[in-house]
Amino acid sequence: MNLPALGWLPSAGVPITPRQLLRVLRTRDPEGRLFDGVAAHLGVQRVSLRASGRDALRCVLASASRHTGRDEIVLPAYTCFSVAAAAVASGLRVRLVDVTEDGRIDRKCLETLPLERTAAIVVCNLFGLAEPIANTLSLAHAAGVLVVDDAAQAFGALGVDGPAGGRGDIGILSFGRGKPLSGLGGGAIAWNTWPAELPDPRPAEPARAMAALRAAAYDVALAPPVFHALSRIPALGIGETHFDVDFARGPIDPGAMALAAATLPSAGVAADARAAEALRLADRLAPCGLRPIMAIDGARGVYPRFFGLAPDAAARDAALAALRPIGAGATAMYPTALDQVPGLRPHLCGVEDYPGARDLAARLLTLPSNGGLRANRLRKAERLLQKTLMQQS
Ligand SMILES: Cc1ncc(COP(=O)(O)O)c(C=O)c1O
Repeated sequence: MNLPALGWLPSAGVPITPRQLLRVLRTRDPEGRLFDGVAAHLGVQRVSLRASGRDALRCVLASASRHTGRDEIVLPAYTCFSVAAAAVASGLRVRLVDVTEDGRIDRKCLETLPLERTAAIVVCNLFGLAEPIANTLSLAHAAGVLVVDDAAQAFGALGVDGPAGGRGDIGILSFGRGKPLSGLGGGAIAWNTWPAELPDPRPAEPARAMAALRAAAYDVALAPPVFHALSRIPALGIGETHFDVDFARGPIDPGAMALAAATLPSAGVAADARAAEALRLADRLAPCGLRPIMAIDGARGVYPRFFGLAPDAAARDAALAALRPIGAGATAMYPTALDQVPGLRPHLCGVEDYPGARDLAARLLTLPSNGGLRANRLRKAERLLQKTLMQQS
């Protein structure tokens, strides 16, 4: 029945291959490689490597505020808590905009917002998909607002209007754990022309052996039996989402830079494999009542996980509870919409109701797209989803 002997699948993240580990040790000038690879992929000329995606965003938002003389940032009401933490760390107030069922900025809601005090809008490209950005751009620019194309979850994703992270006025990336281009840490700012100054702290020389060791330890941690054991240690907080404005600032960690540079050449192949897996899971799980969130025609997603919507909150919670004992790597993603995050509330302005964000937080269910969910475990997951999602709705 249960499969505790097999351990638990991690919800995201792909092991770093021996070839990538060798590349960590051999790659000369990882800073230049990472710079060139990101610039070529996003079609930009300037790249600044930062401590994390959060720190990249914090820099960009503070700079946007200095340039425009405005003190508000518009964020989607459902997104990673780190996005909101970056806005607060930049010293700005946050105005939320509701999202659609697919997690995109709801254009109608954006049209109703007062933007006179807004320095920038952040487009979050959730779920490894490049959300169409043209409407947001035209509305924002008409109001003198800058647009940040946040591709933390979507490096490699192509939208109908270009690569995620390379559209808008400026892009940001994350190289954190489980991201489409992972160095187990770090982030970047990518742009062509930006109206204000951006600090560009220089990274230290990479400690290659340490980076390779860290990558090897990560691989061990991803093995289901080890992951199972680690997940049971509360102090590690695996899978938890926190709102924390006190994050590291400055240049990228040199080890993270070496690892991201070594991972870059195979990022496209890895993304194709995850996309194929997401399609396979969509075919198998849609008939069980889970609506897959997939790239639209003409676009290409990179699927750091497989994302699906349960019919309602009760069905989603029942499905998660049923899937947990078989270690299928199912998660609920972010626990609430941003307006419900206590640490953010004092920094919010113009708070309204955000039914789209609330609905997404209540109904989203993610599964691993890294190829781990197969055979017996996938069949069990199908049966459990069918039972919980179909029964409750
Ligand atoms: C959309 C989005 N933006 C920014 C970030 C922040 O990236 P980092 O974890 O590297 O600080 C994240 C993190 O998951 C994210 O999902």
